[in-house]
Amino acid sequence: MSDKKRKILVTSALPYANGPIHVGHLVEYIQSDIWVRFQKMRGHDCIHVCADDAHGTPIMIRAQDEGISPEALVERFGVEHRRDFADFAIDFDNYHTTHSEENRELSILIYQRLKAGGHISSRVIEQAFDPVKNMFLPDRFIKGECPRCGAAEQYGDNCEVCGATYSPVDLKNPISAISGAKPVSRESEHYFFKLQDFEPMLRAWTRGGHLQPEVINKLDEWFTEGLREWDISRDAPYFGFEIPDAPGKYFYVWMDAPIGYMASFKNLCTRTGLEFDAYWGRDSETEVYHFIGKDILYFHALFWPAMLAGANFRTPTAIFAHGFLTVNGQKMSKSRGTFITARTYLSHLEPEYLRYYFAAKLNGRVQDLDLNLDDFMARVNADLVGKLVNIASRCAGFINKRFAGKLAKALPDAVLFQQFADAGDMIAGFYEAREYSRAVREIMALADRANQYINDRQPWVIAKQPGRDAELQGICTLGLNLFRVLVGYLKPVLPLTAAKAEAFLNSDPLTWESCRTPVTGTAINPFTHLLTRVERPTIDAMLSATTEELESMNTRTPTGPLATDPIAKEISYEDFAKVDLRIARITKAQFVEGADKLLQLTLDLGGETHNVFAGIKQAYKPEDLEGRLTVMVANLAPRKMRFGISEGMVLAAGSGDTDLWLLAPDDGAQPGLRIK
Ligand code: MSP
Ligand code: ZN
Repeated sequence: MSDKKRKILVTSALPYANGPIHVGHLVEYIQSDIWVRFQKMRGHDCIHVCADDAHGTPIMIRAQDEGISPEALVERFGVEHRRDFADFAIDFDNYHTTHSEENRELSILIYQRLKAGGHISSRVIEQAFDPVKNMFLPDRFIKGECPRCGAAEQYGDNCEVCGATYSPVDLKNPISAISGAKPVSRESEHYFFKLQDFEPMLRAWTRGGHLQPEVINKLDEWFTEGLREWDISRDAPYFGFEIPDAPGKYFYVWMDAPIGYMASFKNLCTRTGLEFDAYWGRDSETEVYHFIGKDILYFHALFWPAMLAGANFRTPTAIFAHGFLTVNGQKMSKSRGTFITARTYLSHLEPEYLRYYFAAKLNGRVQDLDLNLDDFMARVNADLVGKLVNIASRCAGFINKRFAGKLAKALPDAVLFQQFADAGDMIAGFYEAREYSRAVREIMALADRANQYINDRQPWVIAKQPGRDAELQGICTLGLNLFRVLVGYLKPVLPLTAAKAEAFLNSDPLTWESCRTPVTGTAINPFTHLLTRVERPTIDAMLSATTEELESMNTRTPTGPLATDPIAKEISYEDFAKVDLRIARITKAQFVEGADKLLQLTLDLGGETHNVFAGIKQAYKPEDLEGRLTVMVANLAPRKMRFGISEGMVLAAGSGDTDLWLLAPDDGAQPGLRIK
């Protein structure tokens, strides 16, 4: 190990518990996971914690829409998120939730210390209120027409059409996105954290080497604009923690979210006996780093250090902000079909391809990065398959077939190996500074040299010449040793491939030191497949699955991406009467090529036929549907979907996937019959 053993705590931003992990999120979790794995390989004591961010209005509303408790919703996403992270080899030492006892206690403690220090104020403010739902409306739950260009359906405080920003009260014909009611203005008492009290502390902290240069500039802008007090309370109904001595008032989700870092760590302490104060106490000498996206800098670089300082805790060693992911050059978008979830990706591609691709593009700055799928494919194939795996596959066969798996007793070219070993310090420096793209570039340059060595020595020629066995064994032994160093250097990025390589090389888990000492004279195992090429059809399949997933969510449930559409609390009989519910016979049911969830149904309404795409593939086999009767909405406006036009909707009940039952009328019913 090159320096003394460090004690490091790393956090990644806490994903909201009301949506799936997507490739944008993964930029962050892959970035932090690589860093932590690197530190661990160097022999440091490095802990990585995270949690789900469970509180707030969107989570509460989504749970209501699904007819479940927010706790149940959070639980479900918690399970999904953990699985996604695990399958991407993102290895947290603890994954908790902000809706936990540890977080409640710490949030209250911090609030009370801030209050005792005179840093909390309160006053009455006016806010939009939904008179039907009986609740105050956050900005993004108010929609209306843009005051500048008149575009309809604009949410919150900015127009997606003309880019105007405004106060939500300026929207024309505003309605509540939850109930559809017209919001009214109502007063309520709120609690504020007096951020301005911390200006001198924050100015000094900003200059103290805790932030990236471009972040310091951003903070200077914020100082110039002036620090204002921050509203940390919300009125009931709210899913969160109630504020002590303030019945009906809750901590705003962003107040308790960063405290969730501490709470997750505290939970780990309880499980493992680690000492909380050694990490978070005022005089702690451990290192604490927060990995975050650039969108949440204000919370982490201003509110958070101020809250910690005001509550007598240590402040972070550094905040590492990264930029945003675009897909094929554009912001990820549901309508463009580039909103690729972690799960959809995993159904088609190896997690390590994405880890490698992001590593090859990430640096220590706050720079956006693009997932260009052509480039992704080219890069993975050229570097991982064409260069890295190639070294091993060119050497392993000879060792196995000709030398019973035994490596030579000495390396024929110790100088070359030493050059590889020496490069380790520079590469380590790049990892440490989060300059992964430079680390990867160095490693790939070494891979080129290893391949060059093999090309020059031509083991496949030597293998055919009698009497050159020792030479052949030497070349292949060196080739495999060079491969082993490279696998060691890439292990933070490719932990799964590294594990397979360790198994095939019959090696202990590689550390930063051990990979730089050659292995000779030992036996290896038969070469196992490491990584295969990415093919274009696989990428296309992933993209169509992405599109289809969004569509089947839209056709199946009232929640999902449409969760904020107004679902009226009550509709008039006249509205109901407009719905044409009819009995239909399923005359044909078939699979839709490339669709994971959809079946294409031909529905006969007694002469008239409708083509409908229904997200019921998990629950029914097409042959079991043909001939059966069901109930459909016959007058739904046709909708263009990826696979064709859908002319109506069949009604079903159940909790989803395989548990889904088409509503079926009595056998004697007549297709076409109106049922109301
Ligand atoms: N819940 C808050 C964080 C609270 S931390 C105390 C939040 N959640 S999030 O789910 O929206 O985002 C989680 C992390 O993913 C954030 O750091 C965010 O910047 C990052 N990203 C979300 N979308 C992203 C991209 N498209 N690209 C890169 N990072 C992205 O914010
Ligand atoms: Zn506009």
